[in-house]
Amino acid sequence: MSRANLEVELSGVKLRNPLILASGFVDDDPSLLLRAWKAGFGALTTKSLTPKPREGYKPPIIAFTKAGYLNAVGLANPGIESLPHLLSKLPEEAKVIVSLAGSTPEDFRYSSEKADKAKVDIIELNLSCPHVKGMGMDIIHDISYSLEVIESVVSTSSKPVFVKLGLTDTYLSLVSRALDKGVSGFTIMNTVRAMAIDIESLKPVLSNVFGGLSGPAIHPIAVRMVYEVYSEFSIPIIGVGGVDDWTDVIEFIAAGASGVGIGSYLFLRSVEKIDVLLKGVEKFMVDRGFSSISEIRGIAIKR
Ligand SMILES: Cc1cc2nc3c(=O)[nH]c(=O)nc-3n(C[C@H](O)[C@H](O)[C@H](O)COP(=O)(O)O)c2cc1C
Repeated sequence: MSRANLEVELSGVKLRNPLILASGFVDDDPSLLLRAWKAGFGALTTKSLTPKPREGYKPPIIAFTKAGYLNAVGLANPGIESLPHLLSKLPEEAKVIVSLAGSTPEDFRYSSEKADKAKVDIIELNLSCPHVKGMGMDIIHDISYSLEVIESVVSTSSKPVFVKLGLTDTYLSLVSRALDKGVSGFTIMNTVRAMAIDIESLKPVLSNVFGGLSGPAIHPIAVRMVYEVYSEFSIPIIGVGGVDDWTDVIEFIAAGASGVGIGSYLFLRSVEKIDVLLKGVEKFMVDRGFSSISEIRGIAIKR
């Protein structure tokens, strides 16, 4: 098979291909990040890190539903101080996105100052986790507060800053105002707040009651949000949500994404299976005569 060029650029950061390990899919073992890099990802996103380690919620934290996966891990993570250790096994050329979570502008500034000194390429602000009180969605629902958080990082960081969005009615207005503050791009989208009830016990399945829905059910929503943001602002976007085969990757890129996050795809498959996605994308490009990803990016936008 002849080859197509899968390289993409995200705010000046060159990736060997558009596939990005989504936040939350490897734990705090540095060997797992190395394994994901060796499997062929273009970039790796860390679990969201908070200033101090967090334990998260008691099990059950994951549930399988007919429509996809529900999780309420509760942002369990080893804390920002663990970042150098987490990255310690990666080769020099590996591209890393560090995801940060917190409750206040000070939390985010503290962690971003640490991240700035580490070998990371992009800082991603998780303003959209749907199941932790005082974090994530609780921040993004308040646009002024979100802008304070964003400014506290952008004003001090030397790295490109991305904001991870979730499903809200006001996200386009946040995007516009965040760009004015100097944000480089957006990761779209986080899980969608949801729940399941066990009909034996007639009680909620998750210990936290509410969790976040991921997997194919949210893919069309994520594609719609990427499309809306790219058509209005033409900025760097990482599309994440429900990628289940290579056609979903092409769909995100056609809607305007430069990078495509892979998450729940890995629940039932080993990380090496991203090779199937890469081969599918490359074959599509060769068959259809596309020589680079940038020729496909945003091609679906109706002007
Ligand atoms: C178990 C689990 C843990 C997650 N942890 C995080 C996290 O720490 N930070 C974050 O920004 N998103 C987190 N996410 C959301 C994913 O990064 C992704 O946005 C979401 O799952 C949608 O993509 P998918 O359908 O491909 O899984 C998590 C998702 C799951 C299922």
